[in-house]
Amino acid sequence: MKKNYIKMVLDLLMAITFVLLMNPRVLNGLPFHEIAGLVIGVAILTHIGLNWRWVINTTKKIFTPKLPGKTRLSYLLNILLLILMATVIISGIFISRVVFPNLAVEGWHSLRGIHSFSADATLALVGLHIALHWQWVMSICKKALKTKEGKLRKGILASVILSLAILAGGMQWYASTATPSMGEFYPKQFQQSDAGPSFNNGNNTGNSTFSHQGPPPNGDFRDGKFHGKDGHGGSNNPFLEMLNYFAIWAVIIIPAYFVEKRILRSKRKPKEVQPKLS
Ligand code: HEM
Ligand code: HEM
Repeated sequence: MKKNYIKMVLDLLMAITFVLLMNPRVLNGLPFHEIAGLVIGVAILTHIGLNWRWVINTTKKIFTPKLPGKTRLSYLLNILLLILMATVIISGIFISRVVFPNLAVEGWHSLRGIHSFSADATLALVGLHIALHWQWVMSICKKALKTKEGKLRKGILASVILSLAILAGGMQWYASTATPSMGEFYPKQFQQSDAGPSFNNGNNTGNSTFSHQGPPPNGDFRDGKFHGKDGHGGSNNPFLEMLNYFAIWAVIIIPAYFVEKRILRSKRKPKEVQPKLS
């Protein structure tokens, strides 16, 4: 049971981090985006590690007809998710300007297109992935918040609210105080050039275009002025950003959950064996 709570906390933190990553301008911009993008990679490996028994058991049974349709679907979805998530992170590393500025490669624009497209596709698939586990999420929340007699565990509820408030306060504080940490990257990578992809800081004129390596001259990672496109969210406010993408997930999760409930469960034969999740 304790393992399920650990999973739940990790899943929630991954979900929050993922939606914040959908807009590279939130918090302190690219420094946060790139570091959190790498951290989520480690979190996902931990997430897979926590479900390793499921991975092994399902892999062994994947070609047996007894395996429930839902498990097979989950397996396929997980493989796609792994490929897409790896594509987002690896393409991110190759367009990186803060953490790996030396790895920037030619064809930056197409890589950025791949990065952006795979991020959108991952967002949609994570929505489906959560929908397939929605029953698990609800049952863990219920077990955590209610006693066997059906009474509300006020202490746990208060701790959850307090933890979320601390997280929100921390984010608000970070968003309002953090400044782009560009010191060590600036002098080394900053190049002035007329060719190649350029930062558009909104007030560029003539020769004030810069190579995409290293931060822009005014250090403006934060407002997203360093690129032409506005990212996806359109807002720098982390809370609006979260609301925006959680709403998108809700639009995917709600119908997918009900479709899954109707189709997959009604098809499940009684003799089918479901591999254990934990
Ligand atoms: C923001 C991203 C993600 C969220 C919020 C998320 C959420 C969840 C949840 C709620 C569960 C059920 C409980 C649990 O075991 O933790 C789960 C299971 C699982 N997830 Fe994820 N997940 C994410 C990304 C991924 C990725 C990228 C993979 C890559 C393969 C993955 C692989 C798995 C596996 C193997 C399981 C257990 C087996 C199953 O699908 O039933 N997850 N995930
Ligand atoms: C799950 C992880 C990640 C997600 C979901 C994600 C998502 C995104 C999205 C949606 C954009 C905006 C694309 C556009 O507007 O065209 C973006 C831009 C970018 N990302 Fe990521 N990213 C992730 C990881 C990373 C990593 C690990 C790095 C580098 C180490 C990185 C570096 C960048 C850079 C340099 C940009 C371009 C910023 C600009 O427009 O100037 N990303 N990312």
